[in-house]
Amino acid sequence: MAIRNIREIGEEVLTKKCREVTEMTPRIRELIEDMLETMYEANGVGLAAPQVGVLKRIVVIDTTGDNPYILINPRIVESSGEQTGAEGCLSVPGKTGQVTRPSYVKAVALDVNMREYELEGTDLLARAICHELDHLDGHLYVEKVEGPLRDAAADEEDA
Ligand code: NI
Repeated sequence: MAIRNIREIGEEVLTKKCREVTEMTPRIRELIEDMLETMYEANGVGLAAPQVGVLKRIVVIDTTGDNPYILINPRIVESSGEQTGAEGCLSVPGKTGQVTRPSYVKAVALDVNMREYELEGTDLLARAICHELDHLDGHLYVEKVEGPLRDAAADEEDA
């Protein structure tokens, strides 16, 4: 495993639509391991493949620090409610802003064995799912921010 370089806002790779994964390969397994390691090392709650420069529809999320989800080709199939709160992104270091997201989402994705599963999330997990899936279509939370971006406190979590 290895820590990968996290791409930052302004880099073109963060604005591109990612391609679906059609088969699991050793290279993609290694990418996923590296994404997890990179996310934990950066104290993030989520990371999408384009954030490490790879235009594939792969996301890792862990909002509790001990329960990682790997989502390949994810899509949101249900959402409801609304929450407005602070959001940050490892690709926009040191900043945070208010974003409104659904308070509940259900996603369908493939796991590392390319088996389909459902992931339901509320609160922070719902927010992280929405945030990470946006990355796969080239979108950053700063496009959705309400009011100004401000400097983040050191203990705030990024995705
Ligand atoms: Ni992000």
